[in-house]
Amino acid sequence: MIKLKNEEQIAGIKRSCDLLSRLFAILKPAIQPGVSTGALDHLAFEFIKDHSGEPAFLNYMDYPASLCISINEEVIHGIPGKRLIRDSDVVGIDCGINLDGFFSDAAFTSALPPVEPAARQLVQVTEECLDRAIKAIEPGARVSAISRAVFSHAKAHGYGVVRQYCGHGVGFSQHEDPQVPNYVSAGPNPRLVPGMVLAIEPMINLGTGDVKDLDDGWTVVTSDGKLSAHFEHTVLVTATGAMILTAW
Ligand code: MF3
Ligand code: CO
Repeated sequence: MIKLKNEEQIAGIKRSCDLLSRLFAILKPAIQPGVSTGALDHLAFEFIKDHSGEPAFLNYMDYPASLCISINEEVIHGIPGKRLIRDSDVVGIDCGINLDGFFSDAAFTSALPPVEPAARQLVQVTEECLDRAIKAIEPGARVSAISRAVFSHAKAHGYGVVRQYCGHGVGFSQHEDPQVPNYVSAGPNPRLVPGMVLAIEPMINLGTGDVKDLDDGWTVVTSDGKLSAHFEHTVLVTATGAMILTAW
């Protein structure tokens, strides 16, 4: 069931999203060679706690951290730890915050110098997929408009689109209806109406869209070992289109 949000609830979700945007502004410059993924996670945990929030991922289905940090062939759900960030890494950071019961969710991918041209393009096109998906939200459109925008742009560049994981409703909890696939699926295709809050999150691979799970129980990697990128915004559907709630 899709839970629409009223003005007051939207205000609460916006506060959660604002806090997440501020966290990303701090995290982005902190992604440097030699920094451990665990140190970035610690920074995020402390920042969220200092601002009276709860890291939404921590303990969600026993997930052990505040951030997901997915590097290179890792697609999503990389667990922070001792691993050190290195030159040329393609680093994806995903985070959610629960602030007073209101949930935000966002992700970005950053390619560290010296950046391979193929990595630069993958990251850029994945971010464009997200932009196009958000622009596809207009009165009368359905979820498939988002899916089609992501899929067609990724495919125009010959990239693989991850199908096993989707965007989703968000706001009152980490994952709500509807599912927001990055491909046009045969599943439910509800109309987009004002008051919906969606986490739109293209996961795009340089090679095939196929992925597999590592035996840590979380980390999702590309089957062919090639690079992957991920961007995500929490977005409000309005009467005229969409508003991005998590800017950075
Ligand atoms: N960021 C993921 C999403 O967008 C959720 C992470 S699940 C967790 O749906 F368990 F890792 F937290
Ligand atoms: Co999400």
